[in-house]
Amino acid sequence: MRLKKGVPVIDQGDKLGFWGGKFGGNFVPETLKKPIEDLEILFNKLKKDKNFINERDKYFKNWVGSPTRFIKLKNLTEYVGGAQIWSKVVSDANGGAHKIYNATVHCLLAKRSGKKVICGDTGAGYAGKMLSMAAKKFGLKCKIFMGAKDIQRQQPNVRAIKKNGAEVIPVYSGSQTLVDAVSECMRYWVANCDKVAMCVGSTVGPAVFVRICGWSTSQISRELKTQLVDEFGSVPKKLKLYNCVGGGSSSFGFWNEFMDYDKKQCEFIGVEAGGPAKSKKHAAPLTYGSKIGILHGAAQYVNQNTDGQIEETESISAGLDYPGISPLHCFLKDTKRARYTAASDEEALRAYKLVTKFEKLRPSLEPSHAFSVAIKESRRFSKDTIVVVNSCGNNREKIGKKICLIQSVMHLKKLKVKKGLLC
Ligand SMILES: Cc1ncc(COP(=O)(O)O)c(C=O)c1O
Repeated sequence: MRLKKGVPVIDQGDKLGFWGGKFGGNFVPETLKKPIEDLEILFNKLKKDKNFINERDKYFKNWVGSPTRFIKLKNLTEYVGGAQIWSKVVSDANGGAHKIYNATVHCLLAKRSGKKVICGDTGAGYAGKMLSMAAKKFGLKCKIFMGAKDIQRQQPNVRAIKKNGAEVIPVYSGSQTLVDAVSECMRYWVANCDKVAMCVGSTVGPAVFVRICGWSTSQISRELKTQLVDEFGSVPKKLKLYNCVGGGSSSFGFWNEFMDYDKKQCEFIGVEAGGPAKSKKHAAPLTYGSKIGILHGAAQYVNQNTDGQIEETESISAGLDYPGISPLHCFLKDTKRARYTAASDEEALRAYKLVTKFEKLRPSLEPSHAFSVAIKESRRFSKDTIVVVNSCGNNREKIGKKICLIQSVMHLKKLKVKKGLLC
């Protein structure tokens, strides 16, 4: 398996939509073959269309708020003592997370295809919030599928989705989390695809959704590259890009523009959710060597039992609580372009406390996983190493912060972990 230079990774799949000959594809019911083919034709045409790209860039700049900040975390760097720690504050984007890029592009595509309704899945609620915002902006009706457990733990985002006029459809099946929300959303699309467009909230699903999402979030690394050159005069000689990995949309978007650099110069580190320290459950299929299986229309490494049934995950972070992973990341892992590891719930919380103690930054629980590994590894790096962490979601709203902390305390009590960990 080989990564080609000079060809965008989203376009390195074969005719059947498989990366590396085995990841991705289109495992969908017969009724979806035509709508998926139509979407593929539309996307392949528009991604080369200058007017469409200008339209996308106009909304990214004037509505999403690109470019987001690239800042040095001076106090944290001093405290850790080692590499320079920087952050790309993607949570500056309208709505507070990277999900806005994919949502915006899907709404633009829906408008071009003449659809009046768009449906989507959500875990942490960010994808749903962003899709509801974009749908409102572009005059589309919007339906968001969300696991009942996630509805409970992500109330501020649920309220935001409803405020934007979208319908929230609770999903009570399975583990009542993201995996079930995606399944239910896809079922709805199967029955309504003639009138309804679907936005998959990450680089997962049938191949075309993986490609659209990766194309959209790549805005993050385009901005970062310019910002690095502005700051250092060129792309640094020792650059390390840390990103949390759920389905894989923020990490892919954060890395894409640097894909052709040698990994000795520019290393990619993906941090999955290791779950509670004392639990066997996790949401880290790449780190813990899960086998290949089919989930949500695509072949990928996925947590499964010996019968091939998808296994339940556990993570304090709703956005990372997903048993599978993008085919793009399976490909990056097997070609050894990216390195994957995991942070436990407790490690993510500790990192959250450290970052918020030293910096004016409030990463949500998802990027706190990436901060955890970045902080740990930065200690042993030289001072000329530039570590950049994608702070892809915020925890800035007071209510969000309160809920996060309550959630954390409850979680830690459940695990009988010492309370001192939070202080
Ligand atoms: C803020 C935030 N970060 C990260 C993720 C993980 O998703 P992905 O790996 O697709 O970026 C989510 C998912 O909901 C999220 O809301």
